[in-house]
Amino acid sequence: MYSLCCLFQIKDDWPGYNLDLFTYPEHYHDDIENVYIPHGVIMNRIERLARYVMEDFEDSKIMVLCVLKGGYKFCADLVEYIKVLGCSSNRYLETRVEFIRLKSYLNDQSTEDLHIIGSSDLSFLRGKAIVDTGKTMKALLKHVETFEPKMVKVAGLLVKRLSNMTESLTDYVGFEIPNRFVVGYALDYNEYFRDLNHICVISKTGKMKYKI
Ligand code: HPA
Ligand code: MG
Repeated sequence: MYSLCCLFQIKDDWPGYNLDLFTYPEHYHDDIENVYIPHGVIMNRIERLARYVMEDFEDSKIMVLCVLKGGYKFCADLVEYIKVLGCSSNRYLETRVEFIRLKSYLNDQSTEDLHIIGSSDLSFLRGKAIVDTGKTMKALLKHVETFEPKMVKVAGLLVKRLSNMTESLTDYVGFEIPNRFVVGYALDYNEYFRDLNHICVISKTGKMKYKI
């Protein structure tokens, strides 16, 4: 578990950065309110998480279970940093990546029914240590445990403050944030905004424009 000193907390009253300070795709000009976490900060924080992973895993092999779609960038960057750190410290972790898809959000609301889409046969996990990259993981963890992996660790880029449960399940937390709906860095609002590098707060206009 992380200790409080290592927790990157974003306070409730954090207003984000003015959009004019950064670059972002022109097509989202009216659709976002601020840059909540700039891409560079995200990347450096993930590098730090990769270091924690390296410290924790004695095994030289890890199986990474990436939760799509929102976790694909986080997963790719975390795995990349694990590789880079391995190269520079001469302690290579062999990483294999498998993908699973979960869907539980419509517009900006969580729906109670969690769908595990795609591979539900996780038998490749038997005897492996895994890092799960995702948000909606309680049901998934239960499922994963049935395959008796040697060690299971959960990495989440964002943990929302209200979801105590998620927080306690997450071993590597990128940022603890208020319970706000954010987009970018692969996180979507009805499939939009995945192509935004920064994590941003969506504007009223954006919410209306892409509402289903
Ligand atoms: N943004 C996008 N997808 C999400 C979020 C969010 O804040 N929370 C859970 N899924
Ligand atoms: Mg989504």
